[in-house]
Amino acid sequence: MAVPIDQGFDVELADRLAQVESFNKHLYRPNSYLHKWWARRCGSTFRMILKHLVEDPARRGYYCSGGLEGKVILDPMMGGGTTLHEAIRLGASVIGMDVDPIPVLQARAALSDIRLELLEEGFETLMDHLHQRVGSFFVTHCPVCGKISTLRFTLYAAQRSCVCGPALFVDSLTLRHEPDGSRITLCPACGEIGRNGECTGHARDNVPPILEKGVAECPRCAEPFLERVETPFYARYTPVAVVGRCGVHGLFFKRPDSHDRERMAAANDRRPEFSPREDFGIARGPKSADLLRRGITSYVDLFSSRQTLYLQAAGEALPTFPPLVRLNLALLVSTSLEFNSMLCGYKGGDKRRPGAVRHTFSHHAYSFPYTALENNPLVPGIASGALPYLFATRIRRARQWASAPSERVVAEREQRTVVLAGERDAGQEVILPEDLRSGTRRFLLVQGSSARSPLEPGSVDYVVTDPPYFDSVQYSDLAAFFRVWLRRFVPEHAQWDYDASQSAVESPGAHNTGRYERLLSSIFTECRRVLKECSGRMVFTFHHWDPRAWSALTVALRRAGFILINRYVVHSENPTSVHIANLKALTHDAILVTAPGGCMQRGQWERPAAIDVTDSRRFCQSCATSLGWMLESNLFDEEIPGLWIDLLAPRNRSV
Ligand SMILES: C[S@@+](CC[C@H](N)C(=O)[O-])C[C@H]1O[C@@H](n2cnc3c(N)ncnc32)[C@H](O)[C@@H]1O
Repeated sequence: MAVPIDQGFDVELADRLAQVESFNKHLYRPNSYLHKWWARRCGSTFRMILKHLVEDPARRGYYCSGGLEGKVILDPMMGGGTTLHEAIRLGASVIGMDVDPIPVLQARAALSDIRLELLEEGFETLMDHLHQRVGSFFVTHCPVCGKISTLRFTLYAAQRSCVCGPALFVDSLTLRHEPDGSRITLCPACGEIGRNGECTGHARDNVPPILEKGVAECPRCAEPFLERVETPFYARYTPVAVVGRCGVHGLFFKRPDSHDRERMAAANDRRPEFSPREDFGIARGPKSADLLRRGITSYVDLFSSRQTLYLQAAGEALPTFPPLVRLNLALLVSTSLEFNSMLCGYKGGDKRRPGAVRHTFSHHAYSFPYTALENNPLVPGIASGALPYLFATRIRRARQWASAPSERVVAEREQRTVVLAGERDAGQEVILPEDLRSGTRRFLLVQGSSARSPLEPGSVDYVVTDPPYFDSVQYSDLAAFFRVWLRRFVPEHAQWDYDASQSAVESPGAHNTGRYERLLSSIFTECRRVLKECSGRMVFTFHHWDPRAWSALTVALRRAGFILINRYVVHSENPTSVHIANLKALTHDAILVTAPGGCMQRGQWERPAAIDVTDSRRFCQSCATSLGWMLESNLFDEEIPGLWIDLLAPRNRSV
């Protein structure tokens, strides 16, 4: 029984949409961006996949509303929830599973129908509480008139030392390029802030020199500069600049004055009050090992004392809200940590001035800034990472969009959006799988490994997913940064102590543990069990340069009994995205349309002679075709890894 996606796919439109969306995915689908999650796919690509599952040709067009009413769609590895949101919009009922609690909580918060006014009221109450409890720590004084002014952020320099004593390091001594060509600069000798690198003449003794990153050895003693790993991480930074805005005198950069220092000292004095019952210790993982290597053993140490007070105050207020308001606000505060930790860097000194905050996960890993930026989470207006701005974009705008979702028209010379009448990005949560078919837009969320599900055999029409790409993103390990706080904010909303070894991700590096292959085999086997036998399809996106990744995927699909029905290659990533820039990353995804082998005709894929590794699109296309051939061949599983190595080995590469 054929399904439209078996026969063809509008690659051209999918490409055009993804090329626009991949620059700023959150702008096009704000309702799925309540909380940080990694490696999200373009919603437009998944809408397109789902549209190619619509039976009625009159409703299959990308810009037609709905079309999947009465269908049940499973995403066993939902992450940011792209499949769920897109399928619900088309009228389907959905099941979302993930081993990590954050995807489940995010989907529940964003998909549940709750009146925006309730969230607005809750947010106002939360902000009142935060201002009352910690507002006085997040202000500064105008250096011209001395009046209390809005604190935008504080910049810190990383401390290092050699036998001569301490030194401070920054990314750049230039703090800002002004439109008139002048620069606001930090004096390396006295630490004063001036113009164009001039020292204002306040050079004092006992002020550590300020150096730009890249100086590895002390010019005087020739010894290496060392980080003070025995000091808590937040205390390894020294404040060097306060950036604020005065109602009369506008934006200012100043050296921290006595008031600023008093406020920071007062926050440090209150730090011991935060003695959580919860465990904030860092467990070793592929990415968090970078924290442990630098002597950072607690997630709390990644936050300044002011940031810790903010989180403590938020934690006091959250239990007072009704469950769904609490969940939305807890996720908002948690996601604000991406912009409010001492791992945030400063990029306001760039000539292009692309905003000030380099957020904690601008790469899919921990990175350690020289100039750290301590944000003000309470500042009103358009301020990256501040709570009011996050509320405006991730809740208010998201909810408004969800009530009348729109799509971008990408015809030549035309840039407009159309609202799709009748669609909504919201549904009704059910607890039992059997309730999914009792209406449209029902959703069932399950936290746990998808190697086992509560679903009946043959109860799912389509699986539409996006599995981890072998070792590319260490989800569980990275997400611990947020989980430790969320567990405190909404302890009863999820299973926090889950077994992270069930995450289907390979450890980075040469050694192959087989974990990815093993877990993916079990997940695919479960998908096959719950899929409708002949009309069921499992459609997913994938790409990787590594033959081990393709090999593990092949073996997992073979073990589960899937064959390849068709494959398409679409644009997935903008090559200048921060996390892949200069990494020769693949910028396309293969869309793999697979089906349970039982009822399908075999024999359509030929073994490709060579794989072109010079072109992202052709590479994905050839790998997908090779996969199809291997799924139908009589090879033994043990032969698969060698075949992939052979196919992708340099001598076989067409260059
Ligand atoms: C590539 S992400 C999905 C991203 C998503 N499609 C999006 O656009 O946001 C893969 C997800 O698989 C989840 N995962 C890994 N192992 C799993 C398992 N055993 N069971 C369920 N989910 C798992 C990860 O936690 C991660 O969220």
